Amino acid sequence: MARAVALRITKLVAAKPAAVLGLPTGRTPVRLYAHLRSLFAAGKIDFSRVTTFNLDEFYGLPSDHPASYRSFMEEHLFKHVNLNWRRIHFLNGMDSSPERECRRYEAAIARVGGIDLQILGIGTNGHIGFNEPAPALQSDTHLARLKPETRRSNAMLFDGRVSAVPREALSMGVGTILRARAVVLMANGSRKADAVKATVEGPVTTRMPASLLQLHRNVELILEKAAAPKLHARMR
Ligand code: GLP
Repeated sequence: MARAVALRITKLVAAKPAAVLGLPTGRTPVRLYAHLRSLFAAGKIDFSRVTTFNLDEFYGLPSDHPASYRSFMEEHLFKHVNLNWRRIHFLNGMDSSPERECRRYEAAIARVGGIDLQILGIGTNGHIGFNEPAPALQSDTHLARLKPETRRSNAMLFDGRVSAVPREALSMGVGTILRARAVVLMANGSRKADAVKATVEGPVTTRMPASLLQLHRNVELILEKAAAPKLHARMR
């Protein structure tokens, strides 16, 4: 799964060296970033003109905090490849005005002409980025409140302490995600099987945020078998 997504990114960057990537954090993309590091070390991908926008960041956490998504990205990708730091974009979880910071992010995405390829993971409850299941969702980048299950899944970044996980985060909205020209959602492990089924075969509902991807015309799900057993559709 990780290799397939890494190759997809490599092909895009070969065809469009100044590609704009939307990047996720979490356990799912760890091996994707390992593949990208190896492809870079082998001279198979050049990030020098690539622009990146990360999906989300905890609110109230400095970017250099060891548990921040920014630190995660530094560790797994940024410090190992030739991305130009001026083209790395992150939400600032310490901005005193989240609304202003979210507007800045949307404007920065628009300024570079939008995201070419948005890579996503998925929460066990079907969240994408930090768009949690709810009766209504915000379309643009916004301040999001995290569900207890999401704080639990992120506890590994805080030495397993759920109470240390911030209660809020800044996140691209589903509209931001749907404006990307192409979307790839990755899912592995049987914990994700129900969310994957609902994403693909369930109704389009804000109670399963990933199901909104059904409204996009260029979405690919790259799944590990363990995440896919409930699907009627056959995997390629
Ligand atoms: C976090 C992130 C999501 C990610 C999800 C799944 O809450 N905000 O972007 O997709 O968790 O994480 P994991 O890949 O660790 O299962």
